[in-house]
Amino acid sequence: MGTFKAMVIEKTESGTKAALTDFDEANLMDGDVTVAVDYSTVNYKDGLAITGKAPVVRRFPMIAGVDFAGTVESSTNLNWKPGDKVILNGWGTGETHLGAYAEKTRVKGDWLVRLPASMTTREAMAIGTAGYTAMLAVMALERHGLTPERGPIAVTGAAGGVGSVAVAILAGKGFSVSAITGRPEEGDYLKSLGATEIVERKDLAGPVKMLAKERWAGGIDSVGSTTLANLLSMTRYGGAVAACGLAGGMDLPTSVAPFILRGVCLYGIDSVMCPIELRREAWKRLETELDRPKLAAMTREIGLSGVPEAAAAILAGQVRGRIVVKIR
Ligand SMILES: NC(=O)c1ccc[n+]([C@@H]2O[C@H](COP(=O)([O-])OP(=O)(O)OC[C@H]3O[C@@H](n4cnc5c(N)ncnc54)[C@H](OP(=O)(O)O)[C@@H]3O)[C@@H](O)[C@H]2O)c1
Repeated sequence: MGTFKAMVIEKTESGTKAALTDFDEANLMDGDVTVAVDYSTVNYKDGLAITGKAPVVRRFPMIAGVDFAGTVESSTNLNWKPGDKVILNGWGTGETHLGAYAEKTRVKGDWLVRLPASMTTREAMAIGTAGYTAMLAVMALERHGLTPERGPIAVTGAAGGVGSVAVAILAGKGFSVSAITGRPEEGDYLKSLGATEIVERKDLAGPVKMLAKERWAGGIDSVGSTTLANLLSMTRYGGAVAACGLAGGMDLPTSVAPFILRGVCLYGIDSVMCPIELRREAWKRLETELDRPKLAAMTREIGLSGVPEAAAAILAGQVRGRIVVKIR
């Protein structure tokens, strides 16, 4: 047993503090699989945990990081053996269970998904929890019966992580995609991912009408609050919105009108406790339904020491696409 590098959050008198630390392997938590972490990523929730802006972390000290891709080092779980390439998203990692910003981690084997054969661990974390959540949202809209023929799909927070991956997947499936963004200067970027139309965030930021002009067959929302409320009131008869985020706020100032007068459905998307079968399906589909060159174009890489700066940037809405964190 030795030590390894980890980004550890400690409680302080004034709040919390994150720092790169030598962590003693003997202090890893229980689990039946030990994984050498290759890559992690910076998701919005990681930003909240690292900066302490929201009470994401519920145990101290905590190794931050809600997702990783890596290589099994040892296992007493019959499903995994040394050398297996694995992915983990959520299950409380980085919140209640020691997380991903570490050279080594120990988790329950039942939490792991096998890395798709044609995917590298770096690509898996370029997708990360944001991208896997985008796929869960697409799957919810499909289960609702939405097809490209039903009309365009709106993606809010489009230049962010969930948004960028959602735009790319939907465009790849032949949907017409309206990218809703507060950064119209990212219009060319969003069009390169496949957006057909760029809509300014302010168009969905005004007072919420109970019912507005029917515009989109569906939507994927990572913003919440007034944006989601306006999106619901602009959704066409029989349409659906998949909601996964709160980048604009936790509230939802809507009425029942879109639901009872237009039959609109609102689907909640949770990636953290999502059942394993759905995770496997999402990752299988990500292997073939997300264009790799587009994924590469939306991704930049940092090291563990760059995580605090990236955490502040993602909360400020300044991160475009995805950030992977090279761990070793
Ligand atoms: N439910 C789940 O399991 C799950 C999983 C993953 C993520 N999430 C949530 O989804 C959200 C997005 O995560 P992410 O990793 O994609 O973060 P992100 O990269 O920061 O993307 C969020 C985007 O939202 C837009 N935005 C930011 N602040 C806003 C504001 N005040 N008003 C309106 N729009 C704003 C920005 O896009 P533009 O500049 O293009 O407008 C920003 O890039 C977060 O709330 C996260 O917690 C939830």
